[in-house]
Amino acid sequence: MSIKMRSNESLVLSTAWREHFEANRNPTEDLPWDDPYRLTPSERRAVERSVQQFQLGEGAQGRRLLARGQAYARATGDIVFPEALTLFIREEQRHSGQLLRFMLLQGIPAVGKHWVDSVFRWVRVLAGLELELRVLVTAEVIAVPYYRALGRATRSALLRSLSDRILEDEAWHLQFQASMLSRLEAQRSRFLRRLIWQAHRWFLAGTCCVVWIEHRSVFTAAGRSFRGLLRDALSEFAGLERAAGLHGAEARQIGLTKRFLPSGAASPERRASQ
Ligand SMILES: [Fe+2]
Ligand SMILES: [Fe+2]
Repeated sequence: MSIKMRSNESLVLSTAWREHFEANRNPTEDLPWDDPYRLTPSERRAVERSVQQFQLGEGAQGRRLLARGQAYARATGDIVFPEALTLFIREEQRHSGQLLRFMLLQGIPAVGKHWVDSVFRWVRVLAGLELELRVLVTAEVIAVPYYRALGRATRSALLRSLSDRILEDEAWHLQFQASMLSRLEAQRSRFLRRLIWQAHRWFLAGTCCVVWIEHRSVFTAAGRSFRGLLRDALSEFAGLERAAGLHGAEARQIGLTKRFLPSGAASPERRASQ
């Protein structure tokens, strides 16, 4: 495969992702914002600090990520990628805004800093585009069991709907990341790819321990255990690895990428191939 073909394929994929994020920019606001339910004191204790931290993390500006995305665009000729990345970052910021709105309704103040968030940002400062995406995707993978638990940690219908809505977006985000990682590692040998994915898996397992320490009140309120968190995160990660490894025509052929998609939705990459 020539460089030019790879560049064209990358451009087609990024264009499809830009279209997806644009179409999802102003989703129908069907969340029950007027739900009068107020968290009980024990529910509030279970979710308050945790939601504050996720609201902070989802609201990142992503300036450095974007600068790295622009460097990637210059190197590969995929000039649409930074636009797709910008829209992706805005979608994360929408999650932050929605969590903030929920917090304000419940009288929960926002926080400006948290050590886990600071450590994540610091690690990403040291990294190149791929490592930064891998750190980011670790948070995306863990977001799946987290929002599943958050939606079930209280009797708030609003928090349940909001968590389900964010989960739908996160399913697409994992697919977007799989597409990006597969492009970045396309030139590597199978052995090296396996080695990197294995190291990433250990990083994920370590991060699950930190997440459990910081957010266990949410998981236990939802009846989830650490083993359940780890099992769910590793299962999402295995799907991500398969999707990244089998991206392109082969993945489309066997429909594997559908695993990450909300039911009935067509993958942007499927649309791009049509
Ligand atoms: Fe998010
Ligand atoms: Fe996300």
